[in-house]
Amino acid sequence: MMPDAADAEAPRTGMISPEGLNSLYATTQDPWDYTTSWYELRKRQITVACLPEERYRRCYEPGCSIGELTKVLAPRCAELLATDGAATAVQLAREATQGLGHVRVEHAVLPQELPGGSFDLIVLSELLYFFPDEHLPGLVDVIAGRLASDGDLVAVHCNAMESCAGAGVHRFLFAHPRLVPLTHHQDEGFALDVFRRAQG
Ligand SMILES: C[S@@+](CC[C@H](N)C(=O)[O-])C[C@H]1O[C@@H](n2cnc3c(N)ncnc32)[C@H](O)[C@@H]1O
Repeated sequence: MMPDAADAEAPRTGMISPEGLNSLYATTQDPWDYTTSWYELRKRQITVACLPEERYRRCYEPGCSIGELTKVLAPRCAELLATDGAATAVQLAREATQGLGHVRVEHAVLPQELPGGSFDLIVLSELLYFFPDEHLPGLVDVIAGRLASDGDLVAVHCNAMESCAGAGVHRFLFAHPRLVPLTHHQDEGFALDVFRRAQG
């Protein structure tokens, strides 16, 4: 879930600068309690349980934070590119995935620094509410453009607070002509949607 500090930085009304993203990690290396919270552990387990395919060739996980979800996605992928705009998070995610030779963690600020190539799995977990509504159609469009012809895109966002609005940010995905909804999970904590790239 969003911590108060990030909430106070008004993620839905303006983009957070790379310095601002890094400052999320200034007082703690785990600002969302990824390593200790049952909510986060359960969400990760449900996220990977909802992946339609057993194995993916190339996965893209932008906004990877300290790499806890990255570690859980790794066994399902031949190659995994995890990125974050906060330098501290990148360093911690690299440490968390040390020894996983097929996982690469890079510093990249969205929407400017999208990776090249295409991916048959894209995971957007607790990321979209960092972008103001007016940026989301464009961001979703460029990210969907990276989805391989047989690719799946998973979006999971908390819906417990007004500012997170999991189901709210997902409406930009439902509106995209290239994304066909496959699976929907909703509970008191979060919303999860799996989309497959439309054929043709
Ligand atoms: C709430 S964490 C999500 C972590 C992980 N995806 C998960 O769900 O376990 C959001 C991460 O997105 C990163 N982030 C937010 N806005 C970004 C942007 N414009 N470019 C790159 N990273 C960004 C933050 O630095 C933070 O580490």
